Amino acid sequence: MILVEHPLVRVHVTVIRNRETPPDLFRYHLTALARLMAYPVLQDLATEPLAVVTPMATTVGERLKREPVLVPVLRAGLGLVEGFRDVIPGAVVSHLGMYRDHQTLQPVRYYSNFPVERQHHPFILLDPMLATGGSAVDALDFLKSEGAVDIRLVSIIAAPEGVERVESRHPDVTIFTAALDERLDDNGYIIPGLGDAGDRQFGTY
Ligand code: PRP
Ligand code: URA
Repeated sequence: MILVEHPLVRVHVTVIRNRETPPDLFRYHLTALARLMAYPVLQDLATEPLAVVTPMATTVGERLKREPVLVPVLRAGLGLVEGFRDVIPGAVVSHLGMYRDHQTLQPVRYYSNFPVERQHHPFILLDPMLATGGSAVDALDFLKSEGAVDIRLVSIIAAPEGVERVESRHPDVTIFTAALDERLDDNGYIIPGLGDAGDRQFGTY
């Protein structure tokens, strides 16, 4: 797991934790966080040389070898999409519909549109909350079963239980998070966390 250490990351995380932060502002700060997270998450992306003609001369620049595929886990992962798209030319978005059953805490998958022709591209799984890790493990199982081989997981707030579960089931997947919290409560919520990330973004409390 890589804890992304940056003063602005900590500042934005503090705002989205605050229970007084309304949905519009929550979304604004989550997008800012996504933009900041994109740099460490994508720093090893492969590029290839590209000739470019400037007004003065010809030189050699670079372009991405394979554009990343962004996979937001609905609903909460939607809040990380725009920040990543802002900084990745040509990123494709492949939504993954999943919710956690409130009683069993088990993930239920209800939608996917995996881009088979891009299975060798880097996949960026976006979900701001890594709690028990059940949803992330299921999402990673699914992506691999469809043929994805290069996958990173971006969370904003992670619980130690979730990190441990993902790392033991998918040791090849690097987890990036903006905060590592203390624990889960009896209902599987992250403490101190920020509450329900889907509800906080979309106002459905
Ligand atoms: C949240 C979150 C993760 C999941 C994390 O989604 O966005 O997908 O819970 O919990 P886990 O690590 O214990 O699986 P939720 O089920 O609340 O759906 P929503 O985004 O539609 O609100
Ligand atoms: N999902 C959330 O949105 N928040 C939590 O604290 C745990 C799971």
